Amino acid sequence: MSLLLEPYTLRQLTLRNRIVVSPMCQYCCADGLANDWHLVHLGSRAVGGAGLIFTEAAAVTRDGRITPEDLGIWNDDQIEPLQRITRFITTQGAVAGIQLAHAGRKASTWRPWLGRQGSVPADQGGWTPFGPSDIAFDAKHTSPVPLDEQQIQEVIQAFVAAAKRALTAGFKVVEIHAAHGYLLHQFLSPLSNQRQDQYGGSFENRIRLTLEVTKAVREVWPQELPLFVRVSATDWVEDGWDADETVELAKRLKTLGVDLVDVSSGGTAASAEIPVGPGYQTHFAERVKKEAEIASGTVGMITDPAQAEHILRTGQADLILLARELLRDPYWPLHADDDLGGRQAVWPAQYQRATHRDQPIHESDLRD
Ligand SMILES: Cc1cc2nc3c(=O)[nH]c(=O)nc-3n(C[C@H](O)[C@H](O)[C@H](O)COP(=O)(O)O)c2cc1C
Repeated sequence: MSLLLEPYTLRQLTLRNRIVVSPMCQYCCADGLANDWHLVHLGSRAVGGAGLIFTEAAAVTRDGRITPEDLGIWNDDQIEPLQRITRFITTQGAVAGIQLAHAGRKASTWRPWLGRQGSVPADQGGWTPFGPSDIAFDAKHTSPVPLDEQQIQEVIQAFVAAAKRALTAGFKVVEIHAAHGYLLHQFLSPLSNQRQDQYGGSFENRIRLTLEVTKAVREVWPQELPLFVRVSATDWVEDGWDADETVELAKRLKTLGVDLVDVSSGGTAASAEIPVGPGYQTHFAERVKKEAEIASGTVGMITDPAQAEHILRTGQADLILLARELLRDPYWPLHADDDLGGRQAVWPAQYQRATHRDQPIHESDLRD
């Protein structure tokens, strides 16, 4: 039996295994609306056996999109196309989750594959981004307009409204995106937050917005359903946000009813040198789990089933999130089950005859 393929319960929700499709922007929406691509892309990963499938970052406001083509959840028209996706994911035995996000100063940028970097100008569909302070991400990005306190309240309410829409759309897990240098992380990090008011300066002030968003979302998100927060454990630069602060933040998030902290890193400092390698972020998830005593998820260059199994067996994290490996192979969970020898995963009935490579099958069974 492998732990990776064991069910996992949070509140009253049980995932069929510990494999999670990490949020991945697809940058192919018009007006923030999910479309056939999202149905097939996310649906394939449900067929492929993942336990929990996150949508890409869904913008809680129009100006909170990273690119003009981002997925959105800022209006009611965006609910129905998402509903179609959650319905399909559910029929496949997986759970649908949504990541709620605001890009802050990293909004209004080009889609990555266009080969252009930095901000999209207004005459090509861009807009002026907001942030905690008037500090651009880098020279290619427009300087953000600092949010005033009224606008901060509006951001909090936008997360709340988005969570309510997510529930109507059929999602069972919400993840608040407070990582990768987007708005909430921008408030957490002293590199991007140099405010003088109650939202900047001290640790208590810098974490205030993330805590207020979390508290407000938890109030409208059903008690029986789990709430995750994704954090960047470190900015990977001197004087930036760091792992000690992450552990402290995780303790506060726990008291607000967060069920799992999904631990990534980086994204605020363009100059950061990140020591990327297999499992390079897992020790941060371990610290959060052990020191803040809250469930953690780990992500980052996890590609091998034995590696994932090892992380779980050594108690470093509770859930394994995969991004690129699940793009390469949507059936990774089913193959992982094969590799780990568990026979715990259930293949879709339609694929039953292909289930295991070593499964004996009579040629006569293949003539329909
Ligand atoms: C195409 C792509 C889009 C991504 N979009 C998001 C996103 O919307 N939200 C997020 O938190 N992380 C996003 N990420 C980061 C992944 O969720 C993940 O943390 C990262 O790729 C490391 O995991 P991996 O090594 O398994 O790919 C994205 C990554 C990729 C490759």
